Amino acid sequence: MARNLTPRIAGAALALLTILGQSCLAAQGDVSRGEVVAAQGSQKGAPACAQCHAFNGGSDASGAFPRVAGQSALYLSKQLRDYSSGTRSNSLMSQISRALSPQEIDDVAAYYAQEKATPFIPLRSGDPALLKRGEQLATVGDNSRQLQSCNNCHGPGGSGEAPAIPYLAGQYSQYIVFTLKEWKHGFRKSSAEAMGVVAQKMSDQDIAAVAVYFQQVRNAAPATGSTTTAAQPAPAQPVKRKQ
Ligand code: HEC
Ligand code: HEC
Repeated sequence: MARNLTPRIAGAALALLTILGQSCLAAQGDVSRGEVVAAQGSQKGAPACAQCHAFNGGSDASGAFPRVAGQSALYLSKQLRDYSSGTRSNSLMSQISRALSPQEIDDVAAYYAQEKATPFIPLRSGDPALLKRGEQLATVGDNSRQLQSCNNCHGPGGSGEAPAIPYLAGQYSQYIVFTLKEWKHGFRKSSAEAMGVVAQKMSDQDIAAVAVYFQQVRNAAPATGSTTTAAQPAPAQPVKRKQ
């Protein structure tokens, strides 16, 4: 009996995953309609995303605008909904998100999710000591601060655990610093129980270190949908995300 149960549970889990997968797909929106929003803005007057995030989602070397290319459609649409609901607040993005219809949100998320934005814009490398500290936090964590490694949740090489957890590899350091401080001070309210806690345990120096580290990480594997099975030190905490 017990012997037969395992495959059945596995089968049920697989079926559930398939359903989840399909519902994600259903919410994925239309890439070609999303392309038009990226290039021209929305019906209700949101500006073209390309003005700040570039048409390919790689944004620019200022680091003020996050890379959005290759983040999962679910993550991107969730952020846009968080901006419009106020869970996340930003003078530019809150207004822009409110000028997108729910369908336009799904469409533009689908469009940027399938973009690659490679090759990466070449950027100056960070201070070696800072990079080393960043690598430690990313891959090992820090017991003295009760910090688990970032990659426990963000996947091998910080390449993301689609659909809920974004990649950090190649993200602009200036943006990483900014958004971690938003969490630390309670302004970014999504994922309070995971990222809020993580950010509060980090010093400003730690934040600077992970940011310069992740900016220069390049993975051979695609950023999302990656099924890589590279060895991980410890299983990730199950992450329940607030809707
Ligand atoms: C005028 C510049 C500007 C324009 C135009 C713009 N954005 Fe943004 N976007 C930003 C900035 C700045 C941030 C970072 C905000 C923050 O720190 O929360 C951002 C953040 C985002 C994020 C969060 C990414 C992440 O990694 O969490 C998404 C998604 C996004 N923008 C999508 C869009 C879409 C889609 C459009 C077009 C409809 C658009 N943006 C237009 C400036 C812009
Ligand atoms: C327990 C799991 C967990 C751990 C550990 C974790 N993260 Fe996260 N992280 C998340 C989740 C979930 C999100 C998505 C939050 C959201 O939806 O807004 C996220 C999002 C982020 C973002 C936002 C990316 C973007 O594009 O806006 C940054 C930056 C980030 N994490 C950095 C880190 C760093 C640096 C560490 C290690 C010091 C770390 N995280 C450890 C779960 C985790």
